[in-house]
Amino acid sequence: ATGEATALAYPNIALVKYWGKRDETMFLPVTSSLSMTLDIFATTTTVRVTDGPADEIEFNGTAATGSAHTRIERFLDLVRAKAGRTERATVVTVNDGPTGAGLASSASGFAALATAAATAYGLDLDGRALSRLARRGSGSASRSIFGGFVVWHAGEGDGEAGDLSSYAEPIGGDELDPALVVAVVNQTAKTVSSRDAMRATTQTSPFYRPWAESSMLDFDEMRRAVARGDLAAIGEIAERNALGMHATMLTARPGIRYLSPHSLAVLDAVQALRADGVLAYATIDAGPNVKVLCTRADAARVAATVESLGDFVTTRTAHIGPGATLLPD
Ligand code: DP6
Repeated sequence: ATGEATALAYPNIALVKYWGKRDETMFLPVTSSLSMTLDIFATTTTVRVTDGPADEIEFNGTAATGSAHTRIERFLDLVRAKAGRTERATVVTVNDGPTGAGLASSASGFAALATAAATAYGLDLDGRALSRLARRGSGSASRSIFGGFVVWHAGEGDGEAGDLSSYAEPIGGDELDPALVVAVVNQTAKTVSSRDAMRATTQTSPFYRPWAESSMLDFDEMRRAVARGDLAAIGEIAERNALGMHATMLTARPGIRYLSPHSLAVLDAVQALRADGVLAYATIDAGPNVKVLCTRADAARVAATVESLGDFVTTRTAHIGPGATLLPD
């Protein structure tokens, strides 16, 4: 039998970060994380099962080679093993955001790939099972299966037990309707992948354990803040959690630094906005770009303030976006 499916997925930005695995092969995280799915920078992926001799993978019009190819092939092997199938596939992906610059392209990418590949290979998976599958491609992708505010549970144990208990689920709160102003200060791909950086941090930073413990407290507090619809508290927890993650990776040996002088300039502008009474809080992932959480009403002002810093920064404003979906053919 052959099959074909196309899926669309959006990136998500973690407000309580995932930074470190307890099991690298199963992508089991040390801590639970919480994110917001966006409505910009979508990935669209088509998977077609073929009778060809090898997987063919195309990314934004160019054939994938080397480690990018291998990573997707390994992921398809997982799907094939679950489906009891052996045929190869053609994968065509189009991504409309900058790749590898800490703008979560692997999250939308593996969420779309998991959704399309599961259907193409005849697997009938619910959202929770899809989130567990997407997790095996990139941890953060588990959260992009769902829209709005989403938690990814660390789960318990290793191997099979860990795999079953480490899934994502939506937690509501969409009525908060925040904006996320993405300040793009550098579009080039990063030099250290988040995968390598989180491994180095867990293995060498003397502050990793304390970070993980404080992040678990942030997670509990963040869940309560989302439940009561308290955007200021959500922002405050998100900012301190992100700064803590960066502080911790700075103490890896050797230290890892994604923050650039331009990132710091944006952080200063966010602080100045707050001093002016604007609800604005920053978060930063594995790259120099800064994402500013604010209300929908303040988004234009926040964007204008950030852009006025100079030519080095441009902005894109996102709102809450939907989970991964199959597109009709
Ligand atoms: C800083 O999900 O890209 O964005 O699981 O190794 O593929 P792998 O890592 P990835 O890491 C994301 C790190 C982060 C924080 C987050 O999204 O929670």
